Amino acid sequence: MTDELLMIPGPTNLAYRVAEVMSKPQLGHLDPRFLESFKETLNLTRYLFVNYTGMPFVISGSGTIGMEASIVSLIEPGDKVLCIDTGYFGKRFVELATVHGAKVDVLQFETGKHADPNAVDEKLSKDNYKAITITHVETSNGLINPIKDLVKVARKYDVYSIIDSVAGVGGCELNFDQLGADIVITCSQKVIAAPPGATLLALSKRALDAFENRKTPVHSYYMNLARWRKFMEQPGVYLATPSIQILLALREALLMIKEEGLEKRWRRHKIIADAIRSGLEALNLSIVAEEGYRANTVTGFYIPEGKASDIHSILRERYNIHVAHGLGELKGKILRIGHFGNITQKEALTLLSALEMSLRAVNLNVKRGSGVNAALPYLEELT
Ligand SMILES: Cc1ncc(COP(=O)(O)O)c(C=O)c1O
Repeated sequence: MTDELLMIPGPTNLAYRVAEVMSKPQLGHLDPRFLESFKETLNLTRYLFVNYTGMPFVISGSGTIGMEASIVSLIEPGDKVLCIDTGYFGKRFVELATVHGAKVDVLQFETGKHADPNAVDEKLSKDNYKAITITHVETSNGLINPIKDLVKVARKYDVYSIIDSVAGVGGCELNFDQLGADIVITCSQKVIAAPPGATLLALSKRALDAFENRKTPVHSYYMNLARWRKFMEQPGVYLATPSIQILLALREALLMIKEEGLEKRWRRHKIIADAIRSGLEALNLSIVAEEGYRANTVTGFYIPEGKASDIHSILRERYNIHVAHGLGELKGKILRIGHFGNITQKEALTLLSALEMSLRAVNLNVKRGSGVNAALPYLEELT
């Protein structure tokens, strides 16, 4: 829609048809046209998560609202929670669980290293945890955690699993019904490629039952998922005015995912990610996440000392391409790319060639065309 290319890890570029929906005349929140659209959005959310055994939730608010609602609805003060920390967003769960009165233990892994299921097994075997929090794709470094194995361990100890897949669902393989997790969270502005402002969740029957069996009340009105359950079962019950335009745009973006097909979409993300990763390596840039655990949606890569800020600015000012700085301890050391949503060969090639020119502009010696050359064999697979 504009000549700016967003390659930050969300929000991402919108398809014209998704943006267009938001410019239509305002509908009321009880208008049957909106309610019908919302019901379809819930069905499409089932498709997105492959969740036909549990319940889909769609609530106005960012991904953090989905995370906090999961914690406050499932965890009671004094419950023990194990938070897996593989980066900045793993730490967010630590804060959220602490704020809501949980007794939190943290299992931290080195930057770029995946959460080891054996270490999690050992930890869970030693105490009586109610829940475990896991980041699927850690946006702060581009790591993907082995959620199938981690959830298997949680189930072995009858521990609820809460998974932040804000940067995973839709681009990285995830089948909620087969996974056996209790809550998986995502949001609109990442892989789904809708505007920011909606959080989408998949809940297991076990999680819904746990809400009913709480001993203490939920200390939140808006973030009480048991309250929202009524709206998901019968859209039209008034709880709070939803962000109507965002939700209409979300439906359109989800329709696009269904039209493409989930498996085809996972494949497209894998091919583009392989292309970008090999392009980066050919440009002598090393990837933060360890091999075998690199997300197909986000990549963090190290930049030679003192150059990150300049490269970030050159990409933006000369080429209209937005990439992201490092977060927390990685600030100034890495840059991050979001390669998800509507990404095609065109964006991957544009990014790699602009990055190569930016590297040369700060006197880093890279062979002309090397990034693009390394990416082409992958990109040619996409038809
Ligand atoms: C992995 C992950 N979790 C949670 C969040 C928080 O989402 P939001 O900014 O929509 O609240 C983000 C945002 O970038 C994220 O990448």
